[in-house]
Amino acid sequence: MALVNENYLRLPGSYLFSEIARRVNEFKKINPDADIIRLGIGDVTRPLPPAVVQAMKEAVEEMGREETFRGYGPEQGYEFLTEKIIENDFRSRGVNLSADEVFVSDGAKCDTANFQEVFGLDNVVAVADPVYPVYVDSNVMAGRSGDFDGRGRFKRIVYLPCTEENGMKPDLPQTGVDLIYLCFPNNPTGMTLLREELKRWVDYARENRAVILFDAAYEAYIREEDVPHSIYEIEGAREVAVEFRSFSKTAGFTGTRCAYTVVPREVKAYDSSGKAHQLNALWLRRQTTKFNGVSYPVQAAAAAVYSEEGKKQVRELIDYYMENARIIREGLKAAGYKVFGGVNAPYIWLKTPGGMGSWDFFDRLMREAHVIGTPGAGFGASGEGYLRLTAFGSRENTVRAVERIRQKL
Ligand code: MLT
Repeated sequence: MALVNENYLRLPGSYLFSEIARRVNEFKKINPDADIIRLGIGDVTRPLPPAVVQAMKEAVEEMGREETFRGYGPEQGYEFLTEKIIENDFRSRGVNLSADEVFVSDGAKCDTANFQEVFGLDNVVAVADPVYPVYVDSNVMAGRSGDFDGRGRFKRIVYLPCTEENGMKPDLPQTGVDLIYLCFPNNPTGMTLLREELKRWVDYARENRAVILFDAAYEAYIREEDVPHSIYEIEGAREVAVEFRSFSKTAGFTGTRCAYTVVPREVKAYDSSGKAHQLNALWLRRQTTKFNGVSYPVQAAAAAVYSEEGKKQVRELIDYYMENARIIREGLKAAGYKVFGGVNAPYIWLKTPGGMGSWDFFDRLMREAHVIGTPGAGFGASGEGYLRLTAFGSRENTVRAVERIRQKL
């Protein structure tokens, strides 16, 4: 008799964005002519930059010729890509990495979900609340969560509320934790940590021999000085932090798939005898067993992000989405909404009017304005009473969505 992994049975019925898609499809069945504007899932809408497309085409041509054809690539990614990553994303900010500390992959979602596999099940996990659901769900699947408490939380997970009182920045945990997920610029609130604030987390992790899993997928959207782009800009972070980066939101790769994870050689976790083990070696072991790399044309396309034209075109993409963020933020403020984020991130976190529940406001926005957002409660109990809008829509739809919210709600 085949037995299920009962940890899966603790999970909410469906993944947040699948549940939203289900509700939108139901609505569309009943209202087939509704002109729906989707500002829900953080999926990009601008086409790939021309430099990226050109590099991918050339790489595909190479794959079609006997003399330039390539089979399996190097385990951690092609050097032509990892060298550019190290040079442009880190060395330029005073951070030195070696090639064997960078692992190219097909997405930060998979990496943030999978990384927990190298840790023991007895670790106590801390997450910000609200939080990108992947960190919690993947730990539930692994068996690290304990039971659901019926009020939106798992009993063994330590939730760090991000509220208006603490400026949407999590406070250090009051009880001991071992694995800490941080995402800055934050999904879903769009808020950031300053250098000094991030340093407190690095110091905490060093004092407690904890590991920080730092999701920096939205780093390219940082506009303000004193907001660190990488956790390794903080002294001591190489000892305690793993960082996740992605080309998805930076260069439009949500459908193309390329990302990377940095695992410095100093980051360690311990066995039951207290002996330290390098996470870099464990992650290499995991990836070489379960993953066979990103295709050559996609890695060639990602490398083109760092060419002179590539950098310019990516900057234009980010500027485009950040102008959308400004339009949403300022438009909603002018309409009397309380809004957060959207300054260093492509997400705007708005407080629902009159204390309305997140899912109720989601439904009302869909029914009355035909605009789709993401209910804050889907990101955790502290997200109740908020809704997230993304800046990844087209300019036209963004302007129309704000106009409709102002007029209809
Ligand atoms: C989101 O909407 O939160 C993102 O699209 C999630 C993701 O990148 O997987």
